[in-house]
Amino acid sequence: MIFRDDALANKVILITGGGGGLGKEIATAMSALGAKVHICGRRLGMLEEAANAISEKTGGVVKAHACDVRDADAVDVMIEGIWQDAPLTGLVNNAAANFISPTKDLSARGFRAITSTVMDGSFHATLSCGKRWIDQGIKGSVVSNLVTWVWTGSAFVVPSAMAKTALHAMTMSLASEWGPYGIRLNATAPGPFPTPEAWEKLNPLPDTQSSATNCDTIPLRRFGNMPELTNLIAFLLSDGCDYLTGQTIAIDGGQHLAAPSTFADLTNMTDDQWRAAREAIEASTAKSKAAQK
Ligand code: HXC
Repeated sequence: MIFRDDALANKVILITGGGGGLGKEIATAMSALGAKVHICGRRLGMLEEAANAISEKTGGVVKAHACDVRDADAVDVMIEGIWQDAPLTGLVNNAAANFISPTKDLSARGFRAITSTVMDGSFHATLSCGKRWIDQGIKGSVVSNLVTWVWTGSAFVVPSAMAKTALHAMTMSLASEWGPYGIRLNATAPGPFPTPEAWEKLNPLPDTQSSATNCDTIPLRRFGNMPELTNLIAFLLSDGCDYLTGQTIAIDGGQHLAAPSTFADLTNMTDDQWRAAREAIEASTAKSKAAQK
């Protein structure tokens, strides 16, 4: 723990998709730092179980709400209900759908299953909170959980890359539009932080794993640990970074910087190979100089 355990004591935070995977980890961490936490998702049983487990672990108040973020009216009804209890101060747009598929094989419904959850769902929750914050003069904070594909795109997860990129644009745009109200919007772009459900959808076959989910492609040579991500989110939701807005922060062990457009693959070269490379370069230089004489 790098924060005081009351670092978020005055905060009320909604985590969408908070019943499992990364969302549950985020909810647990925010609760452990003293925030009052709300989680929502489609499956009430799973959410109630998660809320009880978190609250047992942290001693905090955790409320579960069944709500499909794709339904704008349902989101607004849920958020109005939360407001009656106590206004939210923070929102984590975490709910996401995704699976790997050749884009040519996607139906319109398959595309919408992903984009409506990721893009529409996050917009609905952001708007519903934002209009209340503006009305009531509350300096709210939004953190959207994105991916590094917002900068690079990614084959075989095109609807997710498209929807997350739209949220990257929302983060920058509303940071500017809502800045005068003191509302901040930031985003995280995690590399691989494996969770069972997401990994089943992204690595369905045991013997064909993409470099996107393989830690050998990560300069730091390991997957992320949950506290590394939850610490960043806690910081973004805290009062410790009031001047930080409009940013999407990669937390991926440097993975997206090791893309094929860079020489990052060469991190696997041995010292002997580097010596041979240097000799070859020097020979090439000598040849060029000799040709100029
Ligand atoms: C092609 C598929 C498909 C597949 C579903 N569909 N799976 N098409 N290939 N593998 C199509 C269906 O055929 C259907 O279209 C349409 O999608 C809707 O299917 P439903 O099953 O009705 O959808 P729904 O129940 O709404 O959602 C299913 C789901 C969702 C999209 C798979 O349950 C889901 O995403 N669950 C995983 C949640 C999760 O793990 N989220 C974290 C993602 S992690 P038709 O036309 O046939 O009716 C992430 C970051 C990764 O995003 C970072 C890694 C580095």
